[in-house]
Amino acid sequence: KKFKIAIVGATGAVGREMLRCVFQFNFPFESIKLLASARSAGKEIEFEGHKFVVEELTENSFEGVEVAFWSAGGSISEKYMKYAVEAGCVNIDNTSHFRMDPNVPLVVPEVNGEALVNHHGIISCPNCTTIMMCSALTRLNDEFDIERIVVSTYQAVSGAGVAGMEELYRQSQEVLDGKEPVAKTLPCAGDKKHFPIAFNCIPQVDKFDLSNGYSKEEMKMVNETKKIFNKDIEVNATCVRVPVLRGHSESIYIETKKTIDMDKVFELLGNSTGIDLCDDLANQVYPMPTSFIGDELTHVGRVRKDLYKDNALSLWITGDQLMKGAAYNSVDIGLKMIELGLLK
Ligand code: A2P
Repeated sequence: KKFKIAIVGATGAVGREMLRCVFQFNFPFESIKLLASARSAGKEIEFEGHKFVVEELTENSFEGVEVAFWSAGGSISEKYMKYAVEAGCVNIDNTSHFRMDPNVPLVVPEVNGEALVNHHGIISCPNCTTIMMCSALTRLNDEFDIERIVVSTYQAVSGAGVAGMEELYRQSQEVLDGKEPVAKTLPCAGDKKHFPIAFNCIPQVDKFDLSNGYSKEEMKMVNETKKIFNKDIEVNATCVRVPVLRGHSESIYIETKKTIDMDKVFELLGNSTGIDLCDDLANQVYPMPTSFIGDELTHVGRVRKDLYKDNALSLWITGDQLMKGAAYNSVDIGLKMIELGLLK
């Protein structure tokens, strides 16, 4: 069976990758509707010999659409998703809006694909850093029972959309030209102050919750990880924006209930769906964000046992957050639903 699909936010950084993933991973489609704001209506997008004309997203966009991939921002999902559900469309949402809703499965297919059977027309795709972390840790959790995670992220500007990438390019040129870099977007478009990202690191991704000292991005990692693993793992996260164009990295420390056997760790990581183990210190092999732009895997390296505890280890991961962290995970959810007989 082939499906009538739509991509909401098709002109955005993630939306464009969603279109690419639909083709690259053979999501069976009969037709593709590209939706964006009125600003983009009429714009032509050519891909793999197909010509698409972008349409404006409205309440009536989902008539006859069977599957929709959403990445136009939480407020757009909040406002328009109900019309798509009413029209009988199954919606895979990359925004944060529905993620913690108990009626909405929050899915990384290789971790908790079975949660999809409980969907009611909406499935959420987790936050990019959470997807990569859960994907890397799922087999270790099965084997050693993870109790606590301490994670620091090194997040690329593309996580802040097209505007974030433009800002890094422009500011880098401004610095090279001997000018003051002008900050307009980062660390967070909606916050009071903006700081240059070029030649800098910013320990703020999204707004802060002043009551507990964590940013929203950090709390997404805390809350979403618990929901995905369906257990009460303690997560302590520090999220940092770095001047990388594309590709997030994370330094992860875990503590487990069971004693860790490193041979088993390497065996599991070397044979996990979605994981590319690149760890060969003698030959300086470890993952870096620029090495893997555009692929759909989570790359894992620097895997090492804690020096003091038998039930703790550290590892380093990188991945293209527009792909594994967003577009690919969304399309992979769709493919998993087909495999489970949930899309008909
Ligand atoms: P548009 O290009 O027409 O503004 P990014 O996060 O990479 O900037 O992408 C945001 C995506 O969400 C774009 O495709 C953008 O379309 C879309 N979008 C933003 N506002 C709206 C809106 N009011 N209705 C529909 N799509 C929207």
